[in-house]
This record gives sequence, structure tokens and C-alpha cells, in this order.
Amino acid sequence: MTKKTAFRIFLIGTLSSAALFLWATYDTQRQVATLSHVDKLSDEVVAGKRVFERHNCNDCHTILGFGAYYAPDLTRVVQRVGDDGIRFRVKHPEQAFANSWRKMPQQNLSDREISDLVAFFTWVGEVNNNDWPPQDSRKRISRGEQMMVAKVGVSPGAAVFQTKGCMNCHSLNGTGGTFGPALDKIGASLSAEEIGKYVRNPKGVNPKAMMPSQKDNLSERELEEVARFLANMK
Ligand code: HEC
Ligand code: HEC
Repeated sequence: MTKKTAFRIFLIGTLSSAALFLWATYDTQRQVATLSHVDKLSDEVVAGKRVFERHNCNDCHTILGFGAYYAPDLTRVVQRVGDDGIRFRVKHPEQAFANSWRKMPQQNLSDREISDLVAFFTWVGEVNNNDWPPQDSRKRISRGEQMMVAKVGVSPGAAVFQTKGCMNCHSLNGTGGTFGPALDKIGASLSAEEIGKYVRNPKGVNPKAMMPSQKDNLSERELEEVARFLANMK
């Protein structure tokens, strides 16, 4: 090979790589606004980000891969545990993670701060991050899908169970919280009527009950549906 040919190969190689790099950079920049849906950046979302910073949540958590690796990545936490799930975990971490070896501290956030955080996580959860960080997308399943995974089917009662916070404390087929007992076999010991009674007023049935009354959380009809659904779990 002559020196001239070598130089030509070098020149073409370098220039084409540079062009490709510049084009890729330009293309990403062009899409940033759409991918991150900047238009949805409300005051609440911004306030939520401030809360996240003020309480040093990323001393333990990552978002979009940034932060510390002690605790789960929170990029898709809304899809994973839902609004209520986030509220409950931040408000009562000692209950939510009672049986876990890793502990999340109680930071005494106000309700306002928590609702701002939910807005922030909702926004982050909608960022199109091309499935990065990858360990997070593996877990990215909706609650509906979680129930499918848990194979409890889709019925009005199952829907109440998954959307009204029961799963923050109870599990079915290993999916859900651990503060309360797993309810896979609850129908074998309690009738729908007894379940309804318990859910309406746990302390009325057992003065030492730790479960908060769900009366104000559910309509009478939802209560009956979830009770009937659970009574079939045997
Ligand atoms: C000292 C470390 C630490 C700090 C600080 C911390 N967390 Fe956590 N957090 C944890 C751990 C550990 C878990 C997981 C517990 C488990 O599942 O065993 C967790 C879990 C969570 C979860 C549930 C995640 C999931 O996928 O189920 C949410 C939501 C959450 N934290 C939000 C926050 C927010 C918001 C802040 C800041 C206000 C915060 N955390 C600060 C340690 C921390
Ligand atoms: C904050 C956590 C929490 C939430 C939310 C919660 N539970 Fe419970 N639940 C418990 C705990 C803890 C117990 C164990 C007994 C006790 O201390 O009350 C329990 C007990 C029960 C029992 C009786 C189990 C038994 O073996 O006797 C039923 C039925 C039940 N829960 C249903 C529900 C339903 C349905 C929902 C949602 C509408 C719900 N729970 C929401 C914590 C919770």
C-alpha cells in the first residue's frame, strides 16, 4: 500500500465516522423534546423534583440510571406500584417494607410533598428512554399485568383489589405487599360476609387489628365485589 492510499483510507474512515457521530447527535437532540415530552413539565412536576433532591432520595435510588444503587430504580415506579403504592411506601416505609432486609427511612414528608413526588414520578415514567436503564424495564409491568402474572383473573373484585391499595399490604400468588398476610387461601377460612365485615372495620372484629378500616376508601358495592372475589380464593 502506498502512503497515499493509506492516507486516503484514514481520511475516509475518519470523516465518515465523524459524520455519523454528528448525525446521531443531531438526531437525538432533535428528538429530545418529544422523547421527554417537555410540554408536560408542570409546576407540580418541578416541585416534585425539588422534593426528590431535598430529601436526598437518590442517595439510595436511581432515576434514569443516575443515583445510588442501594434501592430500586424509580424510573418506572408509577407503572410498577401505582400512585397509591408510591404514597403508601413513602408515607409508611416501616410498614411497607416491614419484612424486607433493606430499609427505607421514614422521612416525614407532607402530603403536599408526596403528591408532588407522584407528579414527578408520573412524568419521569412517561419519558421515552429507549428502555434504558435495562434492569428497570424487566420489571416494567402494569398492575393489570401483575394480576395476570398472579393468575387471579380479571373481575370487578380483582380490579378493586389491585386499584384500591389492598396490594400495598397483601399478596396473591406472591405478588403484592407483605405487611398483611397473603390472601391466597382466605376463602377457606372466611366467607364473603366475614371478609366484608373485616375490611369495613378490622378493629370491630379484632381489637388488635393493624389493618386500617377501608370503609371510606371503598363504596359499598366495591366492598361486596372484593369480598366475593376473595371468598373464592381457596
Ligand atoms: C437510605 C436509603 C433510602 C432513601 C434515602 C430513600 N429510600 Fe426509597 N427505598 C429504599 C429501599 C431500601 C427500598 C426497597 C425496600 C425493599 O423493597 O426491600 C426503597 C423503596 C422505595 C419505593 C418502592 C420502590 C418499588 O419499586 O417498590 C419508593 C416509591 C421509594 N423508595 C421512594 C423514595 C423516595 C421518594 C425517597 C425520598 C423522599 C426515598 N425513597 C428515599 C431506600 C431508601
Ligand atoms: C396498610 C396495610 C393494609 C391495607 C391497605 C389492607 N390491609 Fe387487609 N390486613 C392488613 C393486616 C396487617 C392484616 C392482618 C390482621 C390485622 O392486623 O388487621 C389484614 C387482614 C386482612 C384480612 C383478614 C385476613 C385474615 O386472615 O383474617 C382481610 C380479608 C383483608 N385484610 C382484606 C383487605 C382488603 C380487601 C384490602 C383492600 C380493600 C385490604 N385488606 C387492605 C393490612 C392491610
